[in-house]
Amino acid sequence: MQDPQYVKQAFSRIADRYRVTNHVLSVGTDILWRKKVGRIVAEWQPKTILDVATGTGDLALEIQKQCPDAEMTGSDFCPEMLAYATESGVNNTMVVDAMEMPFEDDSFDVLTVAFGLRNMGSWPDALKEMQRVLKPGGHLLILDFSLPTGILKEPYSFYLNKVLPKIAGYMTGEKDAYEYLAGTIGEFPSGAKMEELINSCGFSDAKSAPLSFGVASIYTATA
Ligand SMILES: C[S@@+](CC[C@H](N)C(=O)[O-])C[C@H]1O[C@@H](n2cnc3c(N)ncnc32)[C@H](O)[C@@H]1O
Repeated sequence: MQDPQYVKQAFSRIADRYRVTNHVLSVGTDILWRKKVGRIVAEWQPKTILDVATGTGDLALEIQKQCPDAEMTGSDFCPEMLAYATESGVNNTMVVDAMEMPFEDDSFDVLTVAFGLRNMGSWPDALKEMQRVLKPGGHLLILDFSLPTGILKEPYSFYLNKVLPKIAGYMTGEKDAYEYLAGTIGEFPSGAKMEELINSCGFSDAKSAPLSFGVASIYTATA
């Protein structure tokens, strides 16, 4: 659970370098993860999609490409990040705090959130709000970082805590923000713990799938 004011200010400061820094830090893997999410969402054949914490809109744009007939809304509470989503062509963009969304109950067929839930003030409250705006039977998809286990655990932890903030600090001038964001990954539930949390917030059938040896995970559930 994070401090929303700190998070909003941190993203407003890195907005113009967010995309390129992401691609460098993940060696382009984030692009493949988003494509995979796009394919999963396309299989659900949604008419209405909300991408929460859309940031610069990278996931919303990928889903739009794979679901050309769906109506996409990208929302974020940081106007500086959202400006890039609007400029890049996300259909509808709205400045919205995910903890209290201005949407009616049962509004969307699919709700996605990539690397966003981890940064929110209360994970259960955010998930309950997501459940509220999804139609009954609608689909939730969360993409977020997790920690690999086994042989990769130690080297990845070194990369995450020592190397990543240095590279990101060099690219953005905001080393502290990346140290903070790296720290949030260790606190964030993953695997079965995340499935349990999702199901306790009104969803059913939560499932998790690790990506790239567990560096990230996709969680799906039904509203
Ligand atoms: C790491 S970025 C992810 C952006 C995008 N989803 C992506 O995949 O690149 C996290 C985003 O979450 C947004 N965010 C964090 N807390 C939020 C909240 N309570 N409501 C709306 N957006 C929030 C931040 O402003 C930021 O744009």
